[in-house]
Amino acid sequence: MIKSDNVYIDIGDCRRLLGGVERGSVAAAITSPPYNIGKPYGKYKDKLPLPEWEDLISEVSGRVYEALKPNGSFFLNLSPIPYGADREILPLPYIGYKILKDAGFYIRNIIVWTFNNMQNCVNRLSGRYENILWAVKNLDDYVFNLDEIRLPYLTKNDKRLEGGPGRNPTDVWYFNRVNNMTKKSLGLTHPTVYPLEMIERIVLMSTQPGDLVLDPFMGSGTTAVAALKLGRKAVGFEIDGEYEREILHRLRNEAKLEI
Ligand SMILES: C[S@@+](CC[C@H](N)C(=O)[O-])C[C@H]1O[C@@H](n2cnc3c(N)ncnc32)[C@H](O)[C@@H]1O
Repeated sequence: MIKSDNVYIDIGDCRRLLGGVERGSVAAAITSPPYNIGKPYGKYKDKLPLPEWEDLISEVSGRVYEALKPNGSFFLNLSPIPYGADREILPLPYIGYKILKDAGFYIRNIIVWTFNNMQNCVNRLSGRYENILWAVKNLDDYVFNLDEIRLPYLTKNDKRLEGGPGRNPTDVWYFNRVNNMTKKSLGLTHPTVYPLEMIERIVLMSTQPGDLVLDPFMGSGTTAVAALKLGRKAVGFEIDGEYEREILHRLRNEAKLEI
């Protein structure tokens, strides 16, 4: 367990541990669950029968709904995956959409996260995106700090350039995946580390300083690092105790947490 004034991270199954998060206390939940594609996570076996995987995501989504404030947001990262013996493409974001609706959420955006560094295919188009489903509890009342995430205008002679506020980053985001060299330099071994800047954008747009940010599938702890770096608080869970050291290292090294 990692515990300080601003962070609480426990090792175990998030389905059980989410029950301990105070109802209505979380401003945003940001997570990348296991995709059921056999990633080498260590303790967790990333190859469940599909109905079991759906049950996992449903149960977690229901508990996240309870933990969120009435104006809270849930960012659920999922991607199309090659699945089964014939490696047919299975669109997990479609399944996630149905699960989020059944849990009571409304969908605000389906963000396309695109990147370059991924395997090249020879028998189909190479996959270059994942989705982040932005779900809210109330379409009339949710946090969206657009001014915190504006980008420079694209065209040089755009009149808005002078003194303009910058452009909306749109629902297509380019953030390269974290490669092995970067992981090595940060002292990380986890197989699927989120790009930190992408999670910082989500934290900035959906929460205020001091707010609580949740990640039920913490992995190497990127969500907690982003939250603490930006003056928020973090709560989350990871089933594999091997990653606790990695999370603690990142909180000390990247978020400068003194613990
Ligand atoms: C896709 S990874 C998350 C990576 C993370 N976003 C990062 O940047 O490092 C999913 C993680 O969920 C963990 N996991 C799987 N089932 C879990 C469960 N029931 N409760 C908590 N963690 C679980 C896996 O061990 C794995 O580390």
